[in-house]
Amino acid sequence: MEQITLQTPSMQGQIYVGEEVLAERLPLLTEGQKNFVVTDVNVYALYPSLFKTYFRGASIFVLPAGEEFKNFQSLYQILRKMTKAGLHLTSRLFAVGGGVVGDIGGLAAALFMRGISCVQIPTTLLAQVDSSVGGKTAVDLGGVKNAVGAFYQPREVLVDPTFLQTLPKRELKCGVGEIVKYAALSGEIFDLLQENIDRLEDQEFLKTLITACIRHKACIVQADEKESGERRSLNVGHTTGHAIELFYGLSHGESVLYGMALETKIAIAADVCDREYGEKLLHVVNVALQISPCSNVDFRQIGEAAEKARSDKKNADDGKIQMAVAKAKGEWMMLALSFEDYRTALLEGVKSGIKTDEQNDERY
Ligand SMILES: NC(=O)c1ccc[n+]([C@@H]2O[C@H](COP(=O)([O-])OP(=O)(O)OC[C@H]3O[C@@H](n4cnc5c(N)ncnc54)[C@H](O)[C@@H]3O)[C@@H](O)[C@H]2O)c1
Repeated sequence: MEQITLQTPSMQGQIYVGEEVLAERLPLLTEGQKNFVVTDVNVYALYPSLFKTYFRGASIFVLPAGEEFKNFQSLYQILRKMTKAGLHLTSRLFAVGGGVVGDIGGLAAALFMRGISCVQIPTTLLAQVDSSVGGKTAVDLGGVKNAVGAFYQPREVLVDPTFLQTLPKRELKCGVGEIVKYAALSGEIFDLLQENIDRLEDQEFLKTLITACIRHKACIVQADEKESGERRSLNVGHTTGHAIELFYGLSHGESVLYGMALETKIAIAADVCDREYGEKLLHVVNVALQISPCSNVDFRQIGEAAEKARSDKKNADDGKIQMAVAKAKGEWMMLALSFEDYRTALLEGVKSGIKTDEQNDERY
């Protein structure tokens, strides 16, 4: 079992990674207070013994699965159930699931009685490499992703890679999307992916990547908990990724992969990304995009999808679209473009080819 400590001004959290983390940590963490669990229908159905073994007597809120339930109504229902369960300031919330459960469960823990202890148990690859670590919690509102939320650090994150054995391939691809993001930020992860590019779906290799990504993220969050500097790097591919997610209704991780592809092309064209490195990064992104199943995306509409980037949180009031882009191996930078330049650059990026599956290099 690996242990990574995340020390921020607001709290010291521990992250444990390994196949024995639940058995070792949960008996200790569930003892001595009232416990509340947030999960979703799929995880609840797939892992009945987990809930029976470790959460006997706890109140369990089972959310329907999917991003559309990461909203105020679900949050309100969770908070109501927490009140009815008679929880106190000393109670503990466990978020057992993917990024949706982690984000909304974390926010409920942050809000209830101004904050109760929270433990994240991520069950998707995306949640294990990224969303469960760092304390960002949120719900979507009015078509804006993560419009309402809080920074609230979990006390512990328990990462058990065996959850990945039941994960559908589409969800695995989503997690790979976030892993590729780290390749744009960390030379070590870039090299790991370059050298093992044919092992993106290999569970053993994924375990190595999970720890490497968590270590990288923990380092960044420790230096910049509230995203005023270095933490903005974690948004590589995300400005366009979020726009694609909202416009086309694709999953978060797959959208991030398309966002990475397009923003890397934009950065190369704008001469801020080293071309040779950028092409290598694009190759990694393209291999990840080929993991099936591939969504059928009509990129001729990318100009309209670009509109969605206007509401991105990273933008300032000057109306410019802000993107964190890869610059060189292990280096990144913020790139700001006027909306018109951004839209044109996206159209150019799509014209030069976006891989949607192995045979199909779509050009318009
Ligand atoms: N807080 C952050 O820092 C952060 C970072 C990245 C993404 N996010 C958020 O994460 C969310 C996406 O997370 P996600 O991709 O995990 O989506 P998700 O939570 O919707 O899970 C995807 C699907 O996998 C199912 N699932 C979960 N675990 C499973 C398992 N072990 N076996 C089989 N099926 C399983 C779920 O029921 C769901 O149907 C988005 O809302 C995104 O905004 C947050």
